[in-house]
Amino acid sequence: MNRVRLLLVGLGNLGTRFCGILLDKGPLLRGRYGLELRLVGAADSGGAAYHEEGLNLAEVMRLKESGDTVAHYPDAGFPDWPALELVGAAQADMLLEASPVNMRQAAEPGLSCIRTALQRGMHVVTANKGPIILAYRELHDLAAENGVQLRFDGAVAGGLPVLYLARRDLRGARILRIEAVPNLVTGYVMDLVGEGFSWNQALVRASREGVLEADARWDLDGWDAAAKLVILVNAIIEEAALRERPARMEDVARTGILDLDPDALQRAREEGRRYRLLAQAERRGGGDFLLSVGPELLAPEHPLGRLGSKQMGVVLTTDIYGTIVATIDEQDPVPSAASMLRDLLDIMV
Ligand SMILES: NC(=O)c1ccc[n+]([C@@H]2O[C@H](COP(=O)([O-])OP(=O)(O)OC[C@H]3O[C@@H](n4cnc5c(N)ncnc54)[C@H](OP(=O)(O)O)[C@@H]3O)[C@@H](O)[C@H]2O)c1
Repeated sequence: MNRVRLLLVGLGNLGTRFCGILLDKGPLLRGRYGLELRLVGAADSGGAAYHEEGLNLAEVMRLKESGDTVAHYPDAGFPDWPALELVGAAQADMLLEASPVNMRQAAEPGLSCIRTALQRGMHVVTANKGPIILAYRELHDLAAENGVQLRFDGAVAGGLPVLYLARRDLRGARILRIEAVPNLVTGYVMDLVGEGFSWNQALVRASREGVLEADARWDLDGWDAAAKLVILVNAIIEEAALRERPARMEDVARTGILDLDPDALQRAREEGRRYRLLAQAERRGGGDFLLSVGPELLAPEHPLGRLGSKQMGVVLTTDIYGTIVATIDEQDPVPSAASMLRDLLDIMV
């Protein structure tokens, strides 16, 4: 049996669902892959818990479901331990990082936790876009120097395995164009407005249902989609020009959704069409790419023109493999949390 000691930073929507997946899948993972996954440490904004023999997953989930901090874990909780302290001190094989993006605070604490874990010889799996946007090359090189892996499949389009598809299954191809709907919130909100809700009513409803993040403008102004596009381009397009100068957020021509006229959204719905926040990368000469994010009215025959309110998708146009379309229906954050398991298994199995 291969025992893997895990640290988990961030116990919100994603982190707690990841714990649930570990709990449910434990027997299958042991039987199918000979893997014994043990959560030895976890951290949230209130502190950390650590036990070298492993924490009880059900107890971690119970604490979070009751609105408590994991730092109150019986006999193994450390309220004065920030996440970074846990990552710097714990004996573990892998860090799973699911803390907030926090671009306004230099992607902390995620970035420092990831750096420290890589320097200490741990593999890292993150669903957090912030550190990958700010420091992809540095973290990529740090992982290589330390002989460990850095994965971030969940940072691009929830549970949609777009990085695997592009990096593994399109090997040898040139990707000529990327079109993606990588943000779920904007499609959901635009569909509500198309049904007759005002922007305000739609946002209140999305917020009440937990679809909208605390910083709603991150999604609505297109920052989230732009971040995902930048991560995708840097990770899957094998061009010397991009290796020398990776794409950045400021390279993306970005328009959010809030200036759209509600009448236009309603008309589109009546005509069986829909608006989606489309992220596009188009190849120009010299291996350069034109990057944009903005709302587009998609015809039903467009490969992404029939996406439902909680669906995301990507179209990859290649030189030799044709045009590949992948979509995902993500009614809750379980598929996003499962993408961390996908990365974990890809590293360990
Ligand atoms: N939700 C999704 O469907 C989804 C999909 C793909 C990617 N992601 C990404 O995954 C990450 C987590 O998303 P989420 O929806 O789970 O967010 P969330 O529900 O807001 O949870 C964030 C977690 O991080 C913890 N946290 C906040 N500040 C911290 C700090 N300084 N130190 C340690 N922990 C801290 C919070 O602690 P408390 O519990 O104490 O508040 C909470 O447990 C984000 O980067 C997000 O962009 C999310």
